[in-house]
Formats: sequence, C-alpha cells, structure tokens
Amino acid sequence: MSHEVVEKNIGLMVVLILLVISIGGLVEIVPLFFLKSTTEPVEGLKPYTALQLEGRDIYIREGCYLCHSQMIRPFRAETERYGHYSVAGEFVYDHPFQWGSKRTGPDLARVGGRYSDDWHRVHMTNPRDVVPESNMPSFPWLAEDGLDGELTPRKLKVMRLLGVPYTDEDIAGASAAVKDKTELDALIAYLQNMGTVISSRR
Ligand code: HEC
Repeated sequence: MSHEVVEKNIGLMVVLILLVISIGGLVEIVPLFFLKSTTEPVEGLKPYTALQLEGRDIYIREGCYLCHSQMIRPFRAETERYGHYSVAGEFVYDHPFQWGSKRTGPDLARVGGRYSDDWHRVHMTNPRDVVPESNMPSFPWLAEDGLDGELTPRKLKVMRLLGVPYTDEDIAGASAAVKDKTELDALIAYLQNMGTVISSRR
C-alpha cells in the first residue's frame, strides 16, 4: 500500500531516491577518512622541501598533469614499465594530489632518480635533444625565471594547516631555501623526489 504512494508521487520518489543514494555514498566514502592505509603516510614519507613544493606549484602551473599521470595501477603491464604500483599512503602530504587521468606522456609516479638532473635540464628545455621522437612541449623559460621566495613560507603554512607536519624552522627557512634558485631547479627537485619513498623497482 505505502509503496503505491511512493510510485504515484514522483516528487516523493525523487526525495527518497536521493536519500538512498546519499546513504549509500556516505557508507562508502566516510570510512576512508578513518582507514589507516589511506590516511597514514607510508614509512619514510617526508613533507616536500620548500624547493620541491615550489617545483610542484610549477608542475601545476605548466599543466604537466594534462599529459602525465602520477598513479601506477597494480597491473603487470604497469609495474613492469614503471615500478611498484602507487599506494594511498604516498600521497597524504599532496594537497591536491596530482594523480591525473591522461597519459600523453609516461606516468611519472616513480620518475625520481630515473634520470640525472642534467638529463632533466636538457629535456625540459628541449625534449627532442634527448628523446628525438618526443612530442612534449619545450619549457625553456623555466631555466631563466628565478624564484624570489616571497610566498614560500605562506605556502608551507597553508600545507601545515592541511595537516603536513612542517616545523616552525621549516617555515622560517623556506624563503632562504629557494632564493637564487630557478624554476627549473625547483621542478627538477620535485621530479627527483617523486615516488622515491617506495624504491623497490622490479
Ligand atoms: C603535451 C603533452 C605533454 C606535456 C604538457 C608535458 N609532457 Fe612530459 N612528456 C610527454 C611525452 C609525450 C613524453 C615522452 C617523450 C619524452 O620523453 O620526451 C614526456 C616525457 C616526460 C618525462 C620523461 C619520463 C620518462 O619516464 O621517460 C618527464 C620527466 C616529463 N615528461 C616531465 C614533464 C613535466 C615536468 C612537464 C610540465 C612542465 C611535462 N612533462 C609536460 C608529454 C608531455
């Protein structure tokens, strides 16, 4: 009888459907906030240094995530090529995470240490100098633009607000740590750290 009431009243049905979906969603999502494997950093994970954090901002500014993912899936074809699959605990200090979804270029989740700094310098300035068939754009201005470090302490502070364990000393020294560096230095520092906390590469 009451079911008939719901079926004949579209407004009520919409409200009830939304209620059911909301509860279903919450039941799936809320536990993730309390699950250790998604909220605890993996062993040895360190917050980004001031320079790496600046590099990360450049990665976002230049839209690297539009062509590169940072998420190795737990499949043979992926782990054979890139190394250990990504785990949630690697990303707890990433706000926002850069998992991405588009792979015009290779996944970068474990690119740290794969090439020398010099390789990256050449590759960023003109990818075709090291990978002749590359269709990655050149980013020549990165080597010319310097960092002034003016906003760096504030960036660390915001990260601390979001739960990244920066100390007062980290914040106090942030400007000095990036001063006189170029944007390319920062980007390379970020790339070279990427995925290194889990190092078991095949
Ligand atoms: C239009 C797409 C595109 C954009 C944007 C792009 N890349 Fe690439 N990237 C590629 C392609 C394609 C390759 C593979 C060829 C090569 O190595 O140059 C590549 C390769 C790389 C590699 C070597 C990876 C490996 O494992 O060999 C790194 C590191 C890299 N990109 C970093 C970056 C960074 C940092 C940015 C942003 C500043 C960026 N890319 C922006 C397409 C892109």
